[in-house]
Amino acid sequence: MDYSVPRLTDYSAAALERAAGESIAACQSELAAVRSDGDLKAFRDRWMARKNGILTQINELWLKDAPREAKREAGIRVNDLKARITELVEAAHVSESRADALAPETVDITLPGVRRPIGAEHPVVRTTNEIVSVFQKLGYSVAEGPVVETDYYNFEALNFPPNHPARDTQDTLFIAGQQSRPQRERLLLRTHTSPVQIRTMEKMRPPVRIVIPGTVHRNDPPDASHSPMFHQIEGLAVDTNITFGDLKGTLDHAMKALFGSSVKTHFRPSFFPFTEPSAELYVTCFICGGSGKRGADPCRPCKQTGWIEVLGCGMVDPNVFGFVKDNGYDPKKVAGFAFGMGVDRLALLKYGVDDLQYFFQGDVRFLQQFR
Ligand code: PHE
Repeated sequence: MDYSVPRLTDYSAAALERAAGESIAACQSELAAVRSDGDLKAFRDRWMARKNGILTQINELWLKDAPREAKREAGIRVNDLKARITELVEAAHVSESRADALAPETVDITLPGVRRPIGAEHPVVRTTNEIVSVFQKLGYSVAEGPVVETDYYNFEALNFPPNHPARDTQDTLFIAGQQSRPQRERLLLRTHTSPVQIRTMEKMRPPVRIVIPGTVHRNDPPDASHSPMFHQIEGLAVDTNITFGDLKGTLDHAMKALFGSSVKTHFRPSFFPFTEPSAELYVTCFICGGSGKRGADPCRPCKQTGWIEVLGCGMVDPNVFGFVKDNGYDPKKVAGFAFGMGVDRLALLKYGVDDLQYFFQGDVRFLQQFR
């Protein structure tokens, strides 16, 4: 970097030519030495800086000092020189050896590849899909509805009258600040998927055959078998000639498809405001095969009874049809059955998991086991 702009005494064409040539040669050799971004910046500043850069100096020393008669010729040459140097400087980049330039593009094909972990279906989602597909094969379609629901759909239209004690069986989480609204419009987190029965019947005339998977919420503190959020699958079939025999046959078939053809089903009377009659469905314990024992030990999942409760069900109460009668659900003409099951509990039993909370903590060490 020892080039400095000489003062000219000779303004002949040949002298100007030589001076310009030296200047370009200096610029080229400095450019070839540029190795880093820092070098590049210093190089650009040295040649181009408005204040005292080499081009500015050339302007000062060669043009301003030129004798009057040489000014024109000098001006043309200096402009030409400035253009060439500017071109050199602007095109400048950090020079690399060919090997350096190619280095980032080389691939060592002997290195092991980057392993991208493959995700898996969550056990609750997988169980949901299995149950849904059993019903899809029977001709059911899938419906869904909102998780934040109104009092009307979650309770009133399901035949839980306002202030009826049956509401207390579902520890409901209400959305705050709704007191000024009429009760049926107040918002809550749905406590079951049953409101989607009503929403579907409002939209779809009979016959209907639907299953409704979804999340529901109740004010249950989390422990090994409870969670404030859990999953249900609801079912609804409505037509002109549906009987309790259809309910039993459908659910018996579904349980055999889910748990194996040797399970037996057992219906016990129960109560739900929106079905009449209502039942709880039990299947023979698929852990102990119905014996209540595992070898010499008691079978824990069925509490030694040999039976496991899997769902609530019943014939749709005519009062429920009353809320959608204008859409073709005349309680005197149509009949139907409904059922609702807790997916999480079934997934727990199916995979032998002993704490429900594992399903919702998102711990990869737990979830990896379901790949
Ligand atoms: N919704 C009921 C519950 O959450 C289950 C159920 C659904 C019962 C449909 C009967 C018919 O407990």
